[in-house]
Amino acid sequence: MGKAESFEQVLKESRVFKPSKEFSALAHVKSLAQYKKMYNESIKSPDKFWAKIAKELHWFKPWKKVSDWKEPFAKWFVGGQTNICYNCVDRHLPTWRRNKAAIVWEGEPGDSRVLTYNDLHREVCIFANTLKKLGLKKGDRVAVYMGMVPELAIAILACARIGVVHSVVFGGFSANALVERIHDCQAKAVITCDGGWRRGKIVELKAAVDEAVVKCPTIENVVVVQRTRNNVRMEPGRDHWYHELAASVDANCPAEPLDSEQGHFILYTSGSTGKPKGIYHTVGGYMVGTYLTSKLVFDLKDEDIYFCTADIGWVTGHSYIVYGPMANGATCVMYEGAPNHPEPDRFWRIIEKYRVTILYTAPTAIRAFIKWGEQWPQKHDLSSLRLLGSVGEPINPEAWIWYNNVIGKKKCPIVDTWWQTETGSIMISPLPGATPTKPGSATLPLPGILPECVNKETNKKMPPGEKGLLVVRKPWPSMLRGIWGDNERYKKVYWSTVKHSYFTGDGAHCDKDGYFWITGRVDDVIIVSGHNLGTAEVESALVSHPKVAESAVIGVPDEMTGQAVTAFVTLKDGNQPIESLKDELRAHVAKEIGALAKPKQIRFTASLPKTRSGKIMRRLLRDIASGKETVGDTTTLEDYSILAKLRTDDE
Ligand code: WT7
Repeated sequence: MGKAESFEQVLKESRVFKPSKEFSALAHVKSLAQYKKMYNESIKSPDKFWAKIAKELHWFKPWKKVSDWKEPFAKWFVGGQTNICYNCVDRHLPTWRRNKAAIVWEGEPGDSRVLTYNDLHREVCIFANTLKKLGLKKGDRVAVYMGMVPELAIAILACARIGVVHSVVFGGFSANALVERIHDCQAKAVITCDGGWRRGKIVELKAAVDEAVVKCPTIENVVVVQRTRNNVRMEPGRDHWYHELAASVDANCPAEPLDSEQGHFILYTSGSTGKPKGIYHTVGGYMVGTYLTSKLVFDLKDEDIYFCTADIGWVTGHSYIVYGPMANGATCVMYEGAPNHPEPDRFWRIIEKYRVTILYTAPTAIRAFIKWGEQWPQKHDLSSLRLLGSVGEPINPEAWIWYNNVIGKKKCPIVDTWWQTETGSIMISPLPGATPTKPGSATLPLPGILPECVNKETNKKMPPGEKGLLVVRKPWPSMLRGIWGDNERYKKVYWSTVKHSYFTGDGAHCDKDGYFWITGRVDDVIIVSGHNLGTAEVESALVSHPKVAESAVIGVPDEMTGQAVTAFVTLKDGNQPIESLKDELRAHVAKEIGALAKPKQIRFTASLPKTRSGKIMRRLLRDIASGKETVGDTTTLEDYSILAKLRTDDE
């Protein structure tokens, strides 16, 4: 076995899982052959393919040209006018769906609300009219800083209804992060809540807004939705209770016809350096991309109860709680709080209570469930589930198999969906009724999407099994239109690494079946004695040890080998962080990958520093491992106290 091959070994779960006949028979796409035919046609004639999909939605005015590509700037459905809010809400009203649940909401304290599409329409119209009353107009930017309450979905749909560009800032971010994002997009208003519920405590959202807004001269108005009823200060003239504004507007607010390329939203993602990037999306292309992918990847049917556990503060919540599923008229479960409140079975409780059929969550959550133990899901009836999804990072085969066995009871296909804030919608994923899955692989590109693994120097496609840079060769409708206010950075970050291609920042290889295996960000690569090691590979090896819950692996400078592997490891409950276990883990990694990948240093820790979307912040771990004080942007860090703990743990 060659070296490159042995390194890949651990990501290569050799089992293949075929969709069941019963699932395929009822699916939108029923076979691999049907997928391939659709895919080939979409690549041969992309404009024809996308036009056909777009016509399933409502346009006030038809487009003149499907796509217009002046590298690196794309336009889609040029000259067309539509409205994504209209397509998510109004489009369903003349049908029986007007009385169908659009949002099934569960509050953390146990309260719940159900909004039908008709209810949603009314609420969105009222919200849009309050925004208009405050003087907000098409093209203005509004920051949205809320907890996971129905009004968050209502607020962004209301913005979309009148062409106001929303910039949702995750409710767990600090006041400083909010200031930075408001400054960058020059938002005129903030929509917030008095507070939000998280693990039984109130997150003081309005207080953070107060702190932020004094530093933001562009902010004219603050709209406050009442949720937790904690005491908040209301600045006269600037701050308004939403329910008071709403009482004096009418419930009639037609959706505005908007140019397809009108701004839709900005969402900030952290770059590898300090300043977050304002990823900018527009109306028409984003709408078509999220609509199609929701339908095909989640195989959405009118009978489904679909539960995506992401926060709307992340792109997953934008695209797959609100816009994509609602454009399909789906019933979406939305949960306000933490997965372990009041006990570690909250998701399973929700699935049982609402008879959820589709669950979309993240590997980091799955590993937490593994850590908490099987007894929690086993207490509940999960038999309503028919499909499982994963997003956010490579899912290690260990977690995949657990998800499949313990949650899916071996009868639910798993869709491992690869995409990014920048791509707007899912790019690489199985179609659940068509694609045989391999644990750890996001499998094949979706129709209309042309990704490739390439060699950076030659710009040529890598042979099967050899790792390269993951790029996308053709523009697609839901792609970002730029970084807000910074075209140069947009060109540099995405369009300068590989000629005429969108560079994703990820490394990947394709196997002989054309399946994509994403190995993580290329800046997460460790070079030990001249050999590339993906951090994900070593992490996957560590997690395959029965005592390990989660791990994060980084490279630290090393005299002998250039870089050496340092591993931060959290253990499953009931295991002791003893010295002999370190040797056991080293031997395990050596066995799984090879001696070269053996961590030189292992540190046990109670938890890992993560962004709110669950990504491990390796940059911070590198600083800790090298004894440096933490520098740069930490606004996306989930739990600041972890940092202090990591420094003292194991020293
Ligand atoms: C990065 C994008 C996409 C919504 C949530 C994250 C990693 C995401 C997968 C997957 C392997 C994945 C990539 C990507 N990633 N999904 N299924 N398999 N890696 O959005 O914060 O923009 O992050 O997340 O590295 O580039 P994001």
